[in-house]
Amino acid sequence: MEERMVTGELQNEDASVELSLRPANLHQYIGQQKVKENLSIFIQAAKMREEALDHVLLYGPPGLGKTTLASIIANEMGVQFRSTSGPAIERSGDLAAILSSLEPGDVLFIDEIHRLPRSVEEILYPAMEDFFLDIVIGTGPSARSVRIDLPPFTLVGATTRAGLLSAPLRDRFGVLSRLDFYEPDELCEIVERTADIFATTITPEASVEVARRSRGTPRIANRLLKRIRDISQVKGEQEISLATTDEALHMLQVDDQGLDHIDHKLLKGIIDGFQGGPVGLDTIAATIGEEAQTIEDVYEPYLLQTGFIQRTPRGRVVTQRAYQHLGMRKEDG
Ligand code: ADE
Repeated sequence: MEERMVTGELQNEDASVELSLRPANLHQYIGQQKVKENLSIFIQAAKMREEALDHVLLYGPPGLGKTTLASIIANEMGVQFRSTSGPAIERSGDLAAILSSLEPGDVLFIDEIHRLPRSVEEILYPAMEDFFLDIVIGTGPSARSVRIDLPPFTLVGATTRAGLLSAPLRDRFGVLSRLDFYEPDELCEIVERTADIFATTITPEASVEVARRSRGTPRIANRLLKRIRDISQVKGEQEISLATTDEALHMLQVDDQGLDHIDHKLLKGIIDGFQGGPVGLDTIAATIGEEAQTIEDVYEPYLLQTGFIQRTPRGRVVTQRAYQHLGMRKEDG
């Protein structure tokens, strides 16, 4: 996959910075109002009953704060936060080791939970439903099954699309919450909060501009802000200006709608290769040399939301809006 500044996906440099930027409780968490309201009630009720919170599935495009919310859930419940990911758990023994080390009420976060191997997923069912593990020890005639009781715990799963999960796994979550792209005013608040943590100031016009060009995604807004801050600092500015923001975003190849060279490649690929579509996802993927799944989960959601492309039964279609934005004309016929 090509390097990309505005991908919502986690990159190396983000990890440590995100930790320090991460809000610690629901009150500090900006946006996703409905999700927050619901979680707040479920958390209160579980605490009143002194029970573990029901299992929670968080889904939505990358970079919207699923991991952050999971760690907030643990904080609010006053329990430990343990974190792993679907691809990191290769064998059922790996999961058994994690599960049997949990303390009562703990939150176990599994990112990219749709990528758990099927054999691992199956030992998760009784663990989620009745808090026990069925482990087979040995092979052949001497193989036997042992039952290990687990403390009650909360599984918080995260995935880019709920539809990627198998039905039996999805059915075992009591709470399903979808995270949506953030509104510009919410992103603006996030940018100002981050600037504060960085001990810098940014003019209101500049933070509006960062918010507008961050594809509704806090992780992107924060990443862009870091680079803009670098340039502003080297220029010796007292506060981050709109002019510097513009210059930095231009340098980073982020256009005035927040689209980058991969979005352009995708849109132009459909326009030049297929007269604007309709064209199937796998065909587009092969044409521009990106994985179909990545296009679908990472690049497309924002282009769909903002109306640059549409999904039709016969494939993806580039809209008039995209032609206009790229300064191109749709040929008739
Ligand atoms: N940083 C990243 N996402 C955030 C959010 N939703 N609220 C506050 N700070 C954030």
